Amino acid sequence: MLVDGEQVCACLTPLSQLEGRAVVTVEGLADLIAPDGRAVGRRLQQAFASHGAAQCGICTPGMLMAAAELLLQTSAPDADTVADVLGGVLCRCTGYRQIIAAVVAAGEPQTPPQPPAPGSAVGASLARLDGLPKLDGSARFGDDLVPPDTLGMMVVRSPYPHARFTLGDLDTFVSAHPGLAGVLTAADIPNNRFAIFADLRDQPALAENETRLLGEAVIAVVGESSALDALDPAAIPVHFEALRAVASADVALADDAPVVQARYPQNILCRGHVRRGGAWPEPSSLRICEGDMRTEYVEHAYLEPEAGHAIWHGEDAEFSVTVYVSTQTPYMDRDEIAHMFDLAPERVRIIPSVVGGGFGGKLDLSVQPLVVAAARKFGRPVRLTYSRAASMLASPKRHPARMHATLAADPDGRFRAYAFDGDFITGAYASWGPTVASRVPIHACGPYRFDHVRADTRAVLTHDAVAGAFRGFGVPQSTLLVEALIDDLAETLGRDPLELRLQNALRAGDCTATGQRLDASVGLVACLQALAPAWRAAGERVSEFNRASMRAADGPAPGRYGWATDPHGRGPARRLRRGRGIACMWYGIGNTVIANPSTMSVALRADGRIMLYNGAVDIGQGTYTVMAQICADALGLPVSLFDQVWADTALTQDAGKSSASRQTFVSGNAARGAGQALRARLLQALGLGETAILTIDDGLLTGRDGDRREQLRLADLPADQRGDLFVGEGYFNPPTVPLDAEGQGVPYATYGFAAQMAELEVDLDLGTVRLIGIHAAHDVGRAINPMLVEGQVIGGIAQGIGLALMEHYQAGRTDNLHDYLIPTAGDVPPIHVHLIEDAEPLGPYGAKGVGEPALVATAPAILNAIRDACGVRMQAVPVTPDRLRAAIAAHENRPITDDNE
Ligand code: FES
Repeated sequence: MLVDGEQVCACLTPLSQLEGRAVVTVEGLADLIAPDGRAVGRRLQQAFASHGAAQCGICTPGMLMAAAELLLQTSAPDADTVADVLGGVLCRCTGYRQIIAAVVAAGEPQTPPQPPAPGSAVGASLARLDGLPKLDGSARFGDDLVPPDTLGMMVVRSPYPHARFTLGDLDTFVSAHPGLAGVLTAADIPNNRFAIFADLRDQPALAENETRLLGEAVIAVVGESSALDALDPAAIPVHFEALRAVASADVALADDAPVVQARYPQNILCRGHVRRGGAWPEPSSLRICEGDMRTEYVEHAYLEPEAGHAIWHGEDAEFSVTVYVSTQTPYMDRDEIAHMFDLAPERVRIIPSVVGGGFGGKLDLSVQPLVVAAARKFGRPVRLTYSRAASMLASPKRHPARMHATLAADPDGRFRAYAFDGDFITGAYASWGPTVASRVPIHACGPYRFDHVRADTRAVLTHDAVAGAFRGFGVPQSTLLVEALIDDLAETLGRDPLELRLQNALRAGDCTATGQRLDASVGLVACLQALAPAWRAAGERVSEFNRASMRAADGPAPGRYGWATDPHGRGPARRLRRGRGIACMWYGIGNTVIANPSTMSVALRADGRIMLYNGAVDIGQGTYTVMAQICADALGLPVSLFDQVWADTALTQDAGKSSASRQTFVSGNAARGAGQALRARLLQALGLGETAILTIDDGLLTGRDGDRREQLRLADLPADQRGDLFVGEGYFNPPTVPLDAEGQGVPYATYGFAAQMAELEVDLDLGTVRLIGIHAAHDVGRAINPMLVEGQVIGGIAQGIGLALMEHYQAGRTDNLHDYLIPTAGDVPPIHVHLIEDAEPLGPYGAKGVGEPALVATAPAILNAIRDACGVRMQAVPVTPDRLRAAIAAHENRPITDDNE
């Protein structure tokens, strides 16, 4: 908020400091006027809308108010100044660049963009249709809607990675604390196990006698908020006894390892594999590159922690329970809650809140079973919002991986064979471990033509954070390794890294590692060609910079990467080196083999509006906008006529989960089908053919087909119980073929492709990396909304930067956003997005998904650029300054000194 025109953190400002001072929050931003008369607030809101600067929207009030302070002082801020001013406000979705562009643009009056004409919504950079509430403070996130008389909850969590526990006298404890309703234990949940896959249900909502990870929920104290606030956690009678923990994959796979779950005596949850090509070629004729890569736990760090409430209605009501919650997957939530509480799925209603970021982390259950159990037991609504520490301890993470691979190629650079072994730590429970174990072997060799592929994975159980879904399902980890080996090969052969990739890139007509023939929409070559000019230009810049650095050297160069100074003369002399790196990726859109359907419906209503029943949860990626664009064009009516019922299991049909980059491709097809079905019904009612043009005006549906003109007065037509006159429904389930014993089949109906390049500067003494720029070329089939697609790409790149350079989650040590670093506005360089539209015949208007592909190539491109800059091939991420500094010192065969600290 602004206090006397200066940004301050609302949560850190005592009310007593505000007496007599002018306070402006986001709710009052629209009325904020600069002393010179500029409508600063409205300009900012309009610019944020037209630049796609609010995705999930949870950071948006902070961004807007910080930007408002700047715009009160100046009408023409530059991008660097904006980045500085926004430096204290974190955003996990956008990658900041569209926010910075919006603030720069807001210096001038904003002209609202023209709405697209009927039939041309697809391809238009429409402002998001759920955007306004995110800009005026009226969006309601998981903790923002709480019924009267709601109880709170304090969850007691395990202080050890592995422990046994006993409960003391809970009745005496409760009666000694007025205001408490009681204590929730595992016994209050009829079927106290949940999972992503029904046959693997292994995770208790509340632990039973034993805990398997630090921070696992054990019991929950329920009561009035005031009573919980006054409670001393030490008084809660739970007694823990620490047990020997499986702390790493090495320990887990040792012969004497403790068993994490009795069902898996070897601590291996599952395996995945792909075999292609029979006997391998004779190695003596090949160039062989071999290497390792290691990654760490990575936290989603969505800014909105898990939050929601439940209302238990009882047996006689239409629903037994309603859960309002921040979730990516209301239908899976519904089915799991129904199972846990012995209910039919239709007796459970899940209403997603506005979701303040997900990225895969809000696919697993979190607060849902706890608030349902408490509401059921105590007969009052119950809410729960995780603290930041609880969110980071208890939510799933990106799988840490340790991988080894071998790449074999002909002397002319043609890729021949790829062998991959990867262990992915899946933590204490199954979550999405099977998905990672099966998706990685399919993608491990990258989007290249190989005659022979052998890829094996294991999901390994440990007493550590549950690893689940996080933007890429293991593919970002395996891509780090294959892209490093390709650069090894390029160096061995003296080839240009881009040209080598171009030589081997998958093309239409090629077969993948699973034997799937790709007949269309294989845009990788176009991606690489789009990057080629920027690649060459970066090469020239890098060479020039490094030559200048060498010329300015203070002394003789020790080795290939010698002493240099900053040729721009900034600060003290440093040994700086620049480099460029490139990497490619591919990504199967949707679930791996398993059924993946979506259903949508759309209706014409008596008031002449179109109602889209859209069950595809918008977690910031834009499904509430994109589905309407697709449906509108299929229907032949403008988006401006559309209203929507957003995901609510009582009101919308099952559109699956917002994950696996599936919504645009799968639910988009369902939305197109719904629009087409409604159009057919309207044309039939009008007695017109397919080519007729529809309009709705003044309560009249009009169809024109050549000279014919037919009309229906909507008020004269019968409506169903929802008020709908005509309804169209669409359904889509992408065609796949199960993998056989060799891992051969058609795991996905289509794939996204991309190539990214990074240009950066390494300080050889400090080990720091400064990103200069990133180019990203993505084959998205068709950009339904280019602005939103670019927002996904830039936001994914920002998370890729975090993966490459800074993010390493350590339970109990980095459970906050001070110690766990994510990129800030100053860490994300200018990003140039090249959209490649190689239409997918199965996609809605040719579209494929982009949510996860956005991230996958970034970290490998950065690591390859680091290698180009300083000759060091890192074999682990994140490449933190201490790791890079040590690696450079080892590469230069010198001890690490503190001369430059
Ligand atoms: Fe910034 Fe989601 S839009 S955190």
